[in-house]
Amino acid sequence: MINRVKGTYDVLPSEIKKWHYLESKISEITSKYHYTEIRTPIMEYSGVFHRESELSDMVTKETYNFKDKGNRDVTLRPEGTAGIIRSYVENKLYADNDLTKVYYLGPNFRYERPQKGRYRQFSQFGLEAIGTKSALLDAEVISLASEFIKSLGLKNVVVEINSIGDFESRSKYQKALVTYLTPFADKLSFDSKERLQKNPLRILDSKDPIDQELLVNAPKPIDYLNIESQEYFGDLKKYLECFKVEYKINDKLVRGLDYYSDTVFEVKANIKDFGAQNVLGGGGRYNDLVKELGGPDISAIGIAFGMERLLYALESENLFPEELISLDSYIITLSNDEKKYGTMVLQCLREAHFNVDIDFMNKSFKGQLKKALKENSKTLIIIGEEELKKNVVQLKNTKTEEQQEVNIKNLKEILKKVLEN
Ligand code: HAM
Repeated sequence: MINRVKGTYDVLPSEIKKWHYLESKISEITSKYHYTEIRTPIMEYSGVFHRESELSDMVTKETYNFKDKGNRDVTLRPEGTAGIIRSYVENKLYADNDLTKVYYLGPNFRYERPQKGRYRQFSQFGLEAIGTKSALLDAEVISLASEFIKSLGLKNVVVEINSIGDFESRSKYQKALVTYLTPFADKLSFDSKERLQKNPLRILDSKDPIDQELLVNAPKPIDYLNIESQEYFGDLKKYLECFKVEYKINDKLVRGLDYYSDTVFEVKANIKDFGAQNVLGGGGRYNDLVKELGGPDISAIGIAFGMERLLYALESENLFPEELISLDSYIITLSNDEKKYGTMVLQCLREAHFNVDIDFMNKSFKGQLKKALKENSKTLIIIGEEELKKNVVQLKNTKTEEQQEVNIKNLKEILKKVLEN
């Protein structure tokens, strides 16, 4: 037997309806906020992700890179944003739209240490609003994220926001951070010591406990915002109030990618058994990515949620609707003699858009009943010799156990009523 690749998982038939449910909620929220789906390739030329300015671990250490047979460097996407911006630029979407609002769904690949909520192949629901730098737009994206979480019924969730400032503010902040950390350089972890020279902001993201301790009194990005970035952050908070978004300011939040500027935010779950992987989604504004990938000087903002983490949160909080996992009816025949009649009933109900199934394995009555209950069928349609003779069926509600004899002519109508109750 060959096992699945480490860090990947199978979505088995028993789980797929949960994915479909989540996807239907994504479809609802994105329509409401006027986002249209975009589908870009899972692999891109490596330059899309491996850019000079992007020194995050995720891109430098965790990507799956390979040469194709034409000796081209290709990378499996570790995230959606860069590929979407590549497509935005290549297809000149900026030419006929002043603002492009797109959403996407699909797999990403990161060579991480797998654990619950962290995989090497995982799926994201993300969105990008490309075209302008506007605090109102930032607030709308955060509002969408917050409403989406509420629409799923998740309650123990917080939206954290921060500003890391524009380029000027960040440069000033980086200097202050380096000045503060240099006397402790010997105590910093190996990675952080390296980052002190190359990319000091990344140190704030370190999971090393000693680094974290050293950072307690470190300067914070928010204290180094220039007037423009301060005003921008002020406007963002004002608009978040208009959208009635509840949020918390987390002045330590910097995010794990280097393309961000000004607004950053994360949606965190406070759900039991969730462990360290409690960030359901995160995003922020990025000003230079469109330009870096060969497009005009256009700013954008986006967010991505981890689908597996959302599903896990819904599971932990018991928030999947009951009807997700049930059939409208299961047809049980007492012997093989009624199979033809049962099949006609099956077809007639399917034509009327009911979800119905029947036994294909010549199971006994008991076996069929067991299967119907295992599939969480809402009703049973039982057919024996008598029913066949009289052109009727026995219709049984599996929850209330009420049973009635129904003439085949009225079956669709009565089944509909039973299901509605
Ligand atoms: P990110 O924070 O790297 O941001 O990923 C977004 C979300 O994807 C995380 O909050 C998490 O829920 C999920 N995720 C990340 N890595 C894994 C993994 N190994 N296993 C399971 N879930 C994972 C981005 O990817 C940015 N592109 C978001 C963005 C969009 N920024 C602007 N626009």
